[in-house]
Amino acid sequence: MTRNETVKKCLFPVGGLGTRFLPATKELPKEMLPLLDRPIISYGVDEAVSSGCTSIIFVTGRNKTSIEDYFDSSGELEQTLLERGNSALYELIKEIPEKAQFMSVRQPRPLGLGHAVLCGECLCSDSFFGIILPDDVMVSEEEPVLSQLIHVHEKHGGSVIALERVGDEDVSRYGIALVSEEIEEGVFRILDLVEKPARENAPSNLAIMGRYVLSPRIFDYLKVSGKGAGNEYQLTDALKMMIKKETLWGYAYKGQRLDCGTLQGWLDATVRLALSRNELRVVVEKALSQDTLKT
Ligand code: G1P
Repeated sequence: MTRNETVKKCLFPVGGLGTRFLPATKELPKEMLPLLDRPIISYGVDEAVSSGCTSIIFVTGRNKTSIEDYFDSSGELEQTLLERGNSALYELIKEIPEKAQFMSVRQPRPLGLGHAVLCGECLCSDSFFGIILPDDVMVSEEEPVLSQLIHVHEKHGGSVIALERVGDEDVSRYGIALVSEEIEEGVFRILDLVEKPARENAPSNLAIMGRYVLSPRIFDYLKVSGKGAGNEYQLTDALKMMIKKETLWGYAYKGQRLDCGTLQGWLDATVRLALSRNELRVVVEKALSQDTLKT
């Protein structure tokens, strides 16, 4: 895999309130909920870093400082681990802040994904940049999903969004794309977009998943697109305006998505990841063979 030289920044909108996980997220950001032994956000950050990004930009909000702290160094903890001779854990903890340069900017109010991305303009306005929505944890055997999108951008120019086919019953949960014929394996030109359409209005079953490589000109469109679905500023609406002027590709990415945006999806992700690790698989199997708890 060639290392990308063009997309060095990745923006993470993490300002949401996490209401689907209350009360667990009353004081803890949903991005810091564990998926096995790591917070959900760390999967997305590792994907960005292994896709060649060297700057990570968090668009945060109230009660989100633990995300910044997680990616900062923790001298006391490191020192204690060293003194206890726990060099494996020491190395693991020490390398977290060294993965990239971490920056953050506040989204003062949760006004939607489009508004969150616009808050990152001051740090992302000089080049094409990635966006990762960390609720969508991507597992891919070969190339990280963001890197797949970057390679489409490097080959064809323009912006790129990740696409996945979803069932009719799910189109209203996503941004849905109308696309051209496939121009090469998995690559489509985006002709139109609708954010969270009713089933009968969806132009296709191709849904936007939480990975984007965008031209900084997106900020111009975000400033004028106005409120859309759910009375929020939608990134999809700005992209829809942008395609009138410049190319946006859709890429049917290779990999599996673990939707950690709901309790059910998070539980599914936790169990599936546990089943993929030998030492944890036995724990899940044993738990399933026990009598159901009477709660
Ligand atoms: C956002 C986007 C939507 C996209 C989805 C993917 O929606 O607005 O277009 O399909 O992420 O997860 P949200 O899930 O934030 O409501």
